Parts: sequence; C-alpha cells; structure tokens
Amino acid sequence: MKAARHHGSLPLQVEDISDPALRPGSVVVRVLRALIPSSVGDVLSSRYSTPDDPAQNLLILPPMPHTAGVDCIGVVEAVAADVSGLSIGDQVYCDPFLCSNHPAAPWDACLIGYMGFSPASRRLLQQWPDGPYAQKAVYPAQCVTPVGDARQIDPAILARLGYLGTCYGALIRSGIRPGQTLIINGATGILGVGAVMIALGMGIAKIVATGRKRDVLERLRNLNPKRVIPVALEGTLGDADRVADAAGGADVVLDCMVGLAKDAGPTMAAIRALRRPGGVAVLVGGVMTDLPLPYTDLAWAGVTVGVGSSRSAGTLSDPTGSLWFPRAHAADLLLMIGSGALDLDALSPEVYTLDKINDALEYSSSRRGGFNHVVVAPNDR
Ligand SMILES: NC(=O)c1ccc[n+]([C@@H]2O[C@H](COP(=O)([O-])OP(=O)(O)OC[C@H]3O[C@@H](n4cnc5c(N)ncnc54)[C@H](OP(=O)(O)O)[C@@H]3O)[C@@H](O)[C@H]2O)c1
Repeated sequence: MKAARHHGSLPLQVEDISDPALRPGSVVVRVLRALIPSSVGDVLSSRYSTPDDPAQNLLILPPMPHTAGVDCIGVVEAVAADVSGLSIGDQVYCDPFLCSNHPAAPWDACLIGYMGFSPASRRLLQQWPDGPYAQKAVYPAQCVTPVGDARQIDPAILARLGYLGTCYGALIRSGIRPGQTLIINGATGILGVGAVMIALGMGIAKIVATGRKRDVLERLRNLNPKRVIPVALEGTLGDADRVADAAGGADVVLDCMVGLAKDAGPTMAAIRALRRPGGVAVLVGGVMTDLPLPYTDLAWAGVTVGVGSSRSAGTLSDPTGSLWFPRAHAADLLLMIGSGALDLDALSPEVYTLDKINDALEYSSSRRGGFNHVVVAPNDR
C-alpha cells in the first residue's frame, strides 16, 4: 500500500510499504478521510522538539520512520478473531487516543502514530507507531466507533471528529448548562469554529466568540445571530473590556488559542470575564507560555481553571480531561450529527490525494480560518 512516511522532518515521503498486519484485539481499516490539523506541520517538523536533549521535549514522537497522521474515518476491512461488535464493511471513526488502563500504569497517554504526552508514552508509540496518512491503518478495537446514522454525512466532514470531540469533552468537563453563557476564545480556528457549532447544538444560550479574523467572526455570527456574539481581538488592553462587556458575566471559558502564540493576553482577558463565583475556564488550546493567574481573585471568587490532561477528570477507563476526550464522547457526537442536532453543514473541507500530502500540510498550516479544514483521501486518485 501507499503511505506518507515521516523520517524525522518534512517533507513526508510517499512510499510503498506492506499492508498493516492484523494483530490480537485489533481491526484493519481502509482509510476514507484523515484530518490534517493546522498544527500537524509544527509537530512533524519538530518545532516543539529539542532533538539535542530529548529529555526536554514537550512532545514525544513515534520511532522513525513511521506513517504520519492523527485520526480518520475508515471502513473496516479485517477484524481480529478475539474482537466482537465490529464487522467488515462498518464505517468507523478511528480515535488515536491510547493509554494503559490498569491500576499500576504510569501516565503514558499517546495519540497513535502522532505523539505522546509523557516519556512513558514511548512504549505505546513503539507498539502503535503508524497513523492514517496511508491507504490502510491498524487500530486497537477499543479505539474504533461505528459512525451509525452519521454515515449520511460527507466523511471529509466527519474526519474532524477528534477536534470536535476535544471541544465537546471540555464543555462536558466544564459542567455548562443550556441556558448559560460561554466564551470561546480563539473561536475562529478549527477547534473554535467546531466549539461554536457544538455549543449551539447543546443549547448554550449565549456564545461570545473571540478571534482576529473578522470574516470568520461574521460567519460565526451568521450561524445564529441571536446567540453568537463575535468580539474581534485587536491585541490591545481594550480587548479585555470588550470581551467582558459582551459576556456580561460568563459561566464558562473554553480557550482554543493556538500553540505557538506565545501571548497569554487573550486567554487572561477571557478568564477575567468569568462570572464570580462559580466561573469555570477549560484550556484546550496550546498556548506555549504561562498564565499570570490572579491568586487571590481566584481563591476568593471561586473561579475554577481546568488545565490539560490527567486521570483526575475521570475513572481509569475514562481517563481524559481537556486533553483529547473520553472515548464515549465520539459516540455522543456521532449521534448528535446523525440526528441533525449538531449541524456541520457550514464546514467546507478541502480534500487532497495522498501524493499531494505535502501541499496539503502547507495549505493547512496557512490557517485560513476554522470553517475550512484539510483532509487527505489516501484511496482516491
Ligand atoms: N487539548 C487537546 O486535546 C487539543 C486537541 C486538538 C488541538 N489542540 C491544540 O489547540 C490549538 C488550536 O488548534 P486549531 O487547529 O484550532 O488552531 P487554529 O485553527 O490555528 O486556530 C487558532 C486560534 O487562535 C487564535 N490566535 C492565535 N494567535 C492569536 C493571538 N496572538 N491573538 C489572538 N488570537 C490568536 C486564532 O485567531 P485568528 O485565526 O482569528 O487569528 C484562532 O482563533 C493548537 O495548539 C492545537 O495543537 C489541543
């Protein structure tokens, strides 16, 4: 089969390699569509890594070379003898999140074929080094969810399920209720646009959407002019007041700011607009700088700031917090999509064939706004 291989730097090399082998507890899928997130080029080009001192690396990459990719929509082609509940021909979402699920396990979470979140993730990435930028991919059966009624939706749109799940997981974690007010910070990006759509589908009454791209903010308003209030960020001190005025006391902040923006200002402006007491901020973006949090404000005003990963968000079988999402949330979203409760019609994916994968990476990193996302279609010509 053909696969886009990562040898440690970009460009990816499209090569002929053996089909993935079925192993106990796994399924092999034919890949229909796989998302190319805007930050994937930053990860694959090791912009987060310090190769001279691997111990300092923020992200752990799979052993090289490996097939690149994050998550995908596929069709089951083979099912291991010890797997039940999945059949050949099922259209499925393949979720790359994996961690050891036994009481003595270290925190070793990884996204199969993409990255690990602790040095202990290296072992899982050695076992599962390959992602879905290939004609076929192998996944543990526990990672695979049939799309059900959502199969009527374009798989290029469904391929965004991991990013949608990240936002949905964070909103569930925040405890937000339908009548409340939500600030989505960085609403113009891929996470952010999906978060606005999910919040509309969940019945959130008022959604304050912040970002810099005014055309994207306008499109967000048009999704539901009564409930979506855009605020254009200008990078000035006035941003904080305008976000606070628009919210009038927010119950939840969902921060979706991009990873390499080393500016905590927009995130702090949103946190300061939280209702006190009781406001909750969940950080799902990847701002690479520390937040100067006002200690006494938070302590006296009862504001909660939830950061990142960890098991504290759930049980051992439900281990993710605002890092990715618990497995069952993909199934929730597929039900919402299949029933029409979550309307993704406004999304416009760009589809690239596998031989154009490096063009796709470049286009994706140009960050044209979150209504537009890029997928690869490895079995299309
Ligand atoms: N927690 C998780 O599990 C998880 C899952 C997926 C992704 N992520 C991370 O989430 C981050 C966002 O991903 P994405 O694909 O949505 O990124 P994206 O499409 O590039 O969007 C980034 C957002 O940040 C805004 N932004 C960036 N720099 C800014 C600045 N200096 N001032 C104001 N706004 C700024 C952008 O606004 P404009 O476009 O309007 O300029 C946009 O709204 C990435 O770092 C990604 O790695 C985390």
